[in-house]
Amino acid sequence: SMDGFITELLGKMTLEEKIGQLNLVTGGEATTGSVVSTDVEAKIKAGQIGGIFSMSSPAKIRKAQELAVQHSRLKIPIIFGMDVIHGYKTVFPIPLGLAATWDMPLIQQTARVSAIEASADGINWTFSPMVDISRDPRWGRISEGSGEDTYLTSRIAQEMVWGYQGKDLSQPNTLLACVKHFALYGAGEAGRDYNSTDMSLHRMYNEYLPPYKAALDAGALSVMTSFNDINGVPATANRWLLTDLLRQDWGFNGLVVTDYTAVNELIDHGLGDLQQVSALSLNAGVDMDMVGEGFLTTLKQSLEQGKVNMEAIDRACRYVLEAKYRLGLFADPYRYCNEERAKKEIFTPEHRALARKAAAKSFVLLKNESQTLPLKKQGTVAVIGPLANTGANMPGTWSVSADHANTQTLVEGMKEVLGKQVNITSHLGANLSDDAALQERSTMFGRTIPRDDRDPQLLIEEALQLAQSADVIVAALGESSEMSGESSSRTDLNIPASQRRLLEALLKTGKPVVLVLFTGRPLTLSWEDQHVPAILNVWFGGTETGKAVADVLFGDVNPSGKLPATFPQNVGQIPLYYAHKNTGRPLAEGTWFQKFRSNYLDVSNEPLYPFGFGLSYSKFDYSGLKLSHPELNSEGSLEVQVDVTNSGNYDGEEVVQLYIRDMVGSVTRPVKELKNFQKVFLKKGESKRVKFNITVEDLKFYDQQLKHIAEPGDFKVFIGGNSRDVLSGDFKLIN
Ligand code: IFM
Repeated sequence: SMDGFITELLGKMTLEEKIGQLNLVTGGEATTGSVVSTDVEAKIKAGQIGGIFSMSSPAKIRKAQELAVQHSRLKIPIIFGMDVIHGYKTVFPIPLGLAATWDMPLIQQTARVSAIEASADGINWTFSPMVDISRDPRWGRISEGSGEDTYLTSRIAQEMVWGYQGKDLSQPNTLLACVKHFALYGAGEAGRDYNSTDMSLHRMYNEYLPPYKAALDAGALSVMTSFNDINGVPATANRWLLTDLLRQDWGFNGLVVTDYTAVNELIDHGLGDLQQVSALSLNAGVDMDMVGEGFLTTLKQSLEQGKVNMEAIDRACRYVLEAKYRLGLFADPYRYCNEERAKKEIFTPEHRALARKAAAKSFVLLKNESQTLPLKKQGTVAVIGPLANTGANMPGTWSVSADHANTQTLVEGMKEVLGKQVNITSHLGANLSDDAALQERSTMFGRTIPRDDRDPQLLIEEALQLAQSADVIVAALGESSEMSGESSSRTDLNIPASQRRLLEALLKTGKPVVLVLFTGRPLTLSWEDQHVPAILNVWFGGTETGKAVADVLFGDVNPSGKLPATFPQNVGQIPLYYAHKNTGRPLAEGTWFQKFRSNYLDVSNEPLYPFGFGLSYSKFDYSGLKLSHPELNSEGSLEVQVDVTNSGNYDGEEVVQLYIRDMVGSVTRPVKELKNFQKVFLKKGESKRVKFNITVEDLKFYDQQLKHIAEPGDFKVFIGGNSRDVLSGDFKLIN
């Protein structure tokens, strides 16, 4: 048995060898800090390394593994990690985009394919899913999660874990999943990366913690600690979080790893010197130390001085060894090093086809006045803007293994799909930003964007010349991929001024203009919404973005994406999210300003585009919301149904969303909470009755004592195509 095997192995290990297993180093292909691992070979041989991440290819990994299993005393295999966040070589949309598909089987499939590709390349552990709720689009890493909603994020977290880990982790095509960043990383103050969080337990339990728990319930066997502090204690040294909650309350028995140098960063958090913070972190419940080597260099001394005990070291070592055992590495340390598989299973036509489908499904149609879209496959289309001709930006942030050489630009993809039917011309039109230094910061890691430092007006004029002779203008604008992601927070969420000027000029031509918006986060688009006839938000769609954009623009795919995060009118409204509380002075519905009500003088409380919003080329009408019973008790369930009709001219998919409101509670309750959804396909003219069951589980929340309960009383149920435009019904929970 695993237990017996590991107990026996632990019995043979020296203290140094045990501590060595807790050391996770980087292979150096992708680093996100100033510290980089050194002397890796010698350390492997000396039994001082338990895992390596950011190393790929069977050949390299085999070589490192050989050092461990042939040259280290106990021949313990190494675990190999990687940030496989939204695909491997074949890249899928950024996670926020994938979330916009609301397509659970599809999301699981993308994780499955990611696991197949990465494991074929020698990797067996992915630092995904990232399930941090964020209600602050200033935070660049909102792009890496599933947005603002607890329920949607929880559902997606599960699908990803199932996709990565498969049915049996010891199969050679699965990856150990790592839920991150535990916890509350998405709630940093002011949207600034790595910043403090301070949050009531009540909010934590109800809104921020469930997705981590959902991923663990789905079977995820590792957890990464976050960089931030939580109510005064950094997550990486937080015993309440990592032991009381995670291990004791939730019963987690997998591996806890830190984020990159997070132990060392406890020094800057002000918790002590390296020896002190390493001991704190181990004692809090951390098992593996990423890159910083505080464990490797100080734990022995701490043991001698009684600052840590042997049980804690054994515990941590056991969790590391168990992960390796579960992956089948003791049975065959080269299980994931199969050159043949690497040749056959990576970046295949099937995987790329899935990427194209996922990308098209992730796009959200934000506006489509007088059916500007879909475009006809004829005439000349001018594709203008800084995002028109850059393949490097298409995969999106944190796609470290992306095959850039084989990623088309938007223009290339469109040309391939449309062939001779449409004449496509293109021009830069404007720089990403007038500020060259800002552009530089926003295009790191080789994600370059062509830059032209001539007079900006000249660029616009050149673009206008092309535009004049086109039938339609596609403006490819927005953010570069590195304007979101780690350490890419922004305070201004407008499209950069250089690009706005270009857009204004393009609109003045009087030609139809379609804004193809690239972004890793909700942006503030009030001006664009007012002036541009059609806006298609394409996030960063991955490897096949170019073709997928063509698929949607020209009507081969009817857009069905729905926003997983609210788009505010302006930055001052942030945090703005649909599941807010009512307050004691709510604004009367449909009004803007009322004195002595909860609102602003200068902007309404409404978002620009609400959570769950997204248009289709078709139109979906909702009618006839009916409840099977007026009441529900704690054993029973209640059926709610609604008729959805595709009354437009295109077949299409619609995400039917169910929200609930608890009208009276012992604590204040959100005005709406997503509790279920179904993605349905309707042919044009077709109607479907969509049914949901509501049980008492859907009505539960954590009360003041953090008990998970449902309180009898009045509830409302809402169903609609977004969180704002809904039908409603009433029911009661009785004892
Ligand atoms: O997995 C990542 C994490 O999300 C951010 N810091 C670095 C880790 C490993 O690359």
